[in-house]
Amino acid sequence: MAVTSLSPTIPGPYAPLGWRGQALAFLRDPIALMSALRRDYGNLAAILHDYPWWLFAFGPTYNQHVLSDAALFHSTPIAPLTTPPNSALARLTNNLLTMNGETHRQQRRLMLPAFHRKRVESYRDDMVALTEAMLAGWHLGQQLDVARAMQHLTLCIASRTLFGVDATSDTSSVGTLIHDWMAALESGGVLLLPKDLPATPFRRLLRLSDQLEARITTMIAQKRADPTAQHDVLAMLLAARDEDGTALSDEELIGQASVIFIAGHETSSNALTWTLFLLAQHPRILADIQSELAGVLRGGAPTLEQLGRLPLLERVIKESMRLLPPATFMMRYTTRPTQLGPYQLPIGATVTISPYITHHSPDLYPLPERFNPARWETIAPGTYEYLPFGAGPHMCLGSTFAMLEIKIVLAILLQRYQLALRPGARIDRNVKITMSPRQGMPMVVQLPGTALLRAEVRGNIREMVELRSSG
Ligand code: HEM
Repeated sequence: MAVTSLSPTIPGPYAPLGWRGQALAFLRDPIALMSALRRDYGNLAAILHDYPWWLFAFGPTYNQHVLSDAALFHSTPIAPLTTPPNSALARLTNNLLTMNGETHRQQRRLMLPAFHRKRVESYRDDMVALTEAMLAGWHLGQQLDVARAMQHLTLCIASRTLFGVDATSDTSSVGTLIHDWMAALESGGVLLLPKDLPATPFRRLLRLSDQLEARITTMIAQKRADPTAQHDVLAMLLAARDEDGTALSDEELIGQASVIFIAGHETSSNALTWTLFLLAQHPRILADIQSELAGVLRGGAPTLEQLGRLPLLERVIKESMRLLPPATFMMRYTTRPTQLGPYQLPIGATVTISPYITHHSPDLYPLPERFNPARWETIAPGTYEYLPFGAGPHMCLGSTFAMLEIKIVLAILLQRYQLALRPGARIDRNVKITMSPRQGMPMVVQLPGTALLRAEVRGNIREMVELRSSG
């Protein structure tokens, strides 16, 4: 029997201001809202009980239910916008993350070879060179915003390896343009007033989209003109062919080029920033990782073979992405009426699931707020219990790339320097498509092995991570 309305018995808070009020509460602080829902209502809660229905489903069982059935639970647009048809914005946001069904399967199949381990490993030298170049500009005692530094580094790595362009000096590079475009896409002004009116943030987003599309189109033309000289991911996508010889069209290339950058740049930079923050708060773990790195690498940059011999580095990264996953939530919507747990959902219901809430579940991870890389010596969580890279058909295409990049950057950086949080720093989360520190990550560059400068940390980071008092 077809179900046409959402069961009113699904628990959840009253929404006096309707969808706008609920959307604002979510956008202001998704972690606060999701944590409160989990605490007050359990694993299933609704914040809107009528069109547009909006539910939250927490924990491994619902993660699996929602993420594994991509025919029933479709991906939602990156930002909930009505994009003008035939616009650059529409083409840029039509990509793997937002595609569904056979189109998604076919496009993902075409893109897979570019992210194959062997292919990704060929970017090792670029990753090393760009990390070395960044560190060459650092000096002992320097104060810097590590969030910005990591953003710039991953932007340079992404520009070089994904598009074959140099972003180290070129401020008008495609990397910078994508960065500005993403900031505009995520801005509250665009979400609240998605109208093409003079002087609105939405008009600016449309302009940036035109510029970005023009840049990507030029790059595609240049690579087509000289296909043999290219070694980057975009060049691979240009050459990709299905079994029946089908290639990605220019329009598809524009969308897919933007998605690998959207999905691959801020996620990695936030994973690096949060890991460096956690190490600065845990001197014993930092000392252990420094001695592991020194023992295996003896001051040098890691080879691919050596990267496999750094088990603590691997555990530190895994634990960091458990505690502070860059992607804290994912959204899907129902394509037909269905049952979720004891409740009936109508077609078009939005369902939010959360790696963050799952990773902070005490039954899966005892003392979940504690940064404890050693827990990975004895646990092997399932696909839907630990999902920093998502799970199911939309699972991250760049996870091998990301792990290689994060390991290389940390291995080189932590042998040369250690980073301490600047005394008095306030660390609050800023959760948009990814989670970053709202006020940046102010740190001081120190020599490895010296006493870590430590001070009381303020801010809502303390709700997410157990931090000992200074000392
Ligand atoms: C620490 C770094 C990263 C994290 C935490 C991360 C996380 C994720 C997550 C959670 C998803 C699934 C989204 C969903 O189901 O709605 C995803 C998808 C994706 N990621 Fe990543 N990602 C990272 C790095 C990268 C990198 C470096 C690349 C590319 C170079 C990349 C490319 C992609 C692509 C193309 C998708 C879409 C896959 C699809 O829809 O089929 N990611 N990522």
